[in-house]
Amino acid sequence: MDQSTERLLNKLHALVGPAGLLTDADAQAPYLTDWLGKWKGATPVVVRPANTTETAAVVRLCSETRTPVVTQGGNTGMSGGATPDASGAQVVLSTTRMNRVRAIDPINNTLTVDAGVILANAHDAARSVDRFFPLSLGAQGSCTVGGNVATNAGGIAVLRYGNMRDLVLGLEVVLPDGRVWNGLRGLRKDNTGYDLRGLFVGSEGTLGVITGVVLKLFAQPRRHATAWVGAESLEQLVSLLGMVRTRCGERLTAFEMMTAPSLALVMAHVADTRAPLVQAMPFNALIELSDAGDASLSELLEATLAEAMGDGLIVDATLSASEAQTQALWKLREGISQAQVRAGKAIKHDIALPISSLADFVAQAEHDVLASAPGTHIVNFGHLGDGNLHYNVMMPLDIEPATLSARTHQLNGVVHQLVTRFGGSISAEHGVGQLRRDELRIYKSPVEMELMLRIKQAMDPNHLMNPGKLL
Ligand code: FAD
Ligand code: MLT
Ligand code: ZN
Repeated sequence: MDQSTERLLNKLHALVGPAGLLTDADAQAPYLTDWLGKWKGATPVVVRPANTTETAAVVRLCSETRTPVVTQGGNTGMSGGATPDASGAQVVLSTTRMNRVRAIDPINNTLTVDAGVILANAHDAARSVDRFFPLSLGAQGSCTVGGNVATNAGGIAVLRYGNMRDLVLGLEVVLPDGRVWNGLRGLRKDNTGYDLRGLFVGSEGTLGVITGVVLKLFAQPRRHATAWVGAESLEQLVSLLGMVRTRCGERLTAFEMMTAPSLALVMAHVADTRAPLVQAMPFNALIELSDAGDASLSELLEATLAEAMGDGLIVDATLSASEAQTQALWKLREGISQAQVRAGKAIKHDIALPISSLADFVAQAEHDVLASAPGTHIVNFGHLGDGNLHYNVMMPLDIEPATLSARTHQLNGVVHQLVTRFGGSISAEHGVGQLRRDELRIYKSPVEMELMLRIKQAMDPNHLMNPGKLL
């Protein structure tokens, strides 16, 4: 270890103590690769500050010594944003020890947490005062609220409650020079200048370390109704989405889509799963209604699906009759991420499109992808209710890295050019990280790139915060 690193470690030790430092290679290992196993990095030290004061002191020291900082929460991100590069010069700052629920306020409907609080624990804290925090995604058992803010996470309830940008009221952030911005307000209205909070949502660790978050709370849903439906075409599911919205209004909480190949992948690779319908259908939707009132929703959902069947929109449907059945249906949807990792190497496209363009996009994409790479296995699923598809292409587990890289580059181009033609986005909810950094300048205008680079330069002139990510 060279002298400057040794000096840095000694100073960090004085700031956070032995509990806050991981220098042992084995202890560091889980922090140096991402959930997908796609990226691998190195670091002289993983620092785990216990609170905002320690975080500020660590960032100030890194600023003075020009040491790059890679902030990490639950390390469940899918864009490589939380993995240090291979240089071994970047300090990993993990927020996982900052896991206190600071305040729960059912009158102002706010929940104030440390950034390292696990999302599922934020759900429990809201429930403890008969309130509801709606952000819901497959990684909720390990992702952190700070990571959810930094990636502007989406998940399965966006169509009713919005994504993290819509759910954050206030932030506390350690700035790249170590100063602390305390914006931990729970006001619904505060028109006093630029939207500083909005700047840090989706900033992916490149503008500062989020250390505290004020979240919006909602009424606890008392009633749910869940159904799985099968249709011949995506057009029919899009029409069904419109019908359910018209008939069920704000009660519509989730409208997830799975194609037959994506469902088959889950049933092949996730234990205790079974076919939701008698006959496998090319396009499926998992639909959930919820409401804070006492009126049963099952009849409403049943009547809506009966009308849809009468109109020929759907061929089959099953209405969940129990919590166990509801869980079994959600296991099919939430099992996709894991199934893809077990089945092969997924070339992922986390794309957003106008809902009215989804069916045309999918038809054209299938044609273009198969023309470009005959025989590829397309696994298409996602949050149809908000226009976000995970249009993934599976490659064999043992594919040569060079072949995978070439294929990825080729198919990214095919899919993302089409997405742009349909007025969509090349990253709906997973962010940019390392994964989309180089493509960003292709799909963002020069004005947008220049504005973002100016903001980065103004906030982090030494480019120490998560270098090589996003921009
Ligand atoms: P990390 O992975 O640790 O970090 C992600 C990024 O945020 C990095 O750039 C990091 O530098 C930055 N960061 C983390 N914490 C902070 C902080 N305190 N301050 C500043 N920067 C920070 N995502 C969705 O949006 N929707 C889904 O439906 C969804 N489903 C998923 C399902 C599975 C099974 C898995 C494994 C992931 C899924 N994800 C989904 C992706 C991931 O869970 C989200 O991106 C999540 O928000 C990441 O949170 P994290 O704490 O794990 O962040
Ligand atoms: C999901 O919605 O399941 C994830 O965001 C997508 C994925 O795991 O590819
Ligand atoms: Zn998703």
